[in-house]
This record gives sequence, C-alpha cells and structure tokens, in this order.
Amino acid sequence: MAITWDPTLVTGIEDIDAQHQELFRRLDALLEAIRAGRSRDEVGRTLTFLEEYASHHFTAEEAQMEARGYAGLADHRAEHEGFRAELRALEAEYLRDGATASLIIRVNTQLTGWLRSHIYRADRALADFLTGKAR
Ligand SMILES: [Fe+2]
Repeated sequence: MAITWDPTLVTGIEDIDAQHQELFRRLDALLEAIRAGRSRDEVGRTLTFLEEYASHHFTAEEAQMEARGYAGLADHRAEHEGFRAELRALEAEYLRDGATASLIIRVNTQLTGWLRSHIYRADRALADFLTGKAR
C-alpha cells in the first residue's frame, strides 16, 4: 500500500499543499525502495532526496512564519527538527542493520504518522493564521 497525501490534509495554502504532496511522493519512494530490497546506494539516494525536500519545505514554512510574526514559530520549528532527527535516526539504523522489517514499519508508521499529524494539526493551524481564519 502506497503512502499517499489525501484531501483531509488540505491547508488551503496552495504552495504548502503542493509541497506536502511532493513530500508524500518522496516518502513513498523511500518506502518502496526499502521494501523492494534496492541497493544501499539507491535507498541512500531516496533518503537524501526526501531529506533535501523536507528541509526545503520546512525552511519555506518557517520563513512564512517569521515574516508574519507567528507566535507558534518556536514550537512548530521544534516539530520540524523532530522529523529531521527521526530521519537521521532511521538512516543510521538502515546503514547499521539494512532493510529490516522493523525499519520498514518505522518508515511506514512513524514517519508517515508524524507527517500526517503534523500537517493535520500544526500546518493547518499555521494556514488558518496565514489566511486570517484563526481566531
Ligand atoms: Fe510544518
């Protein structure tokens, strides 16, 4: 089963929604590469590909928060750091143990779960603030 973005995750801000969809595509590509038993180089490339985009996306969101003086910036940034740390931990685990069942489960549940809950809660709150919908 592929990891996919779905419309319950819409924030209403076009560039953020497009970036979220790309994040899901890259996360799915990583999971597929691990599941299919691709070479370490190939899995490494999909991981780097995901890390780079996550970094680009988080920086873009944080710049919007800074520009608008968003009060939740520090907490939101800390959540982004948490995702980056989780990615690094997974990378270390992969390099040490390879594509184990537990790694696949972690990518599938932890990374995907983090992304979904972060978007659903933190990014939608940010979007409401940016669009003036927040009370
Ligand atoms: Fe975010």
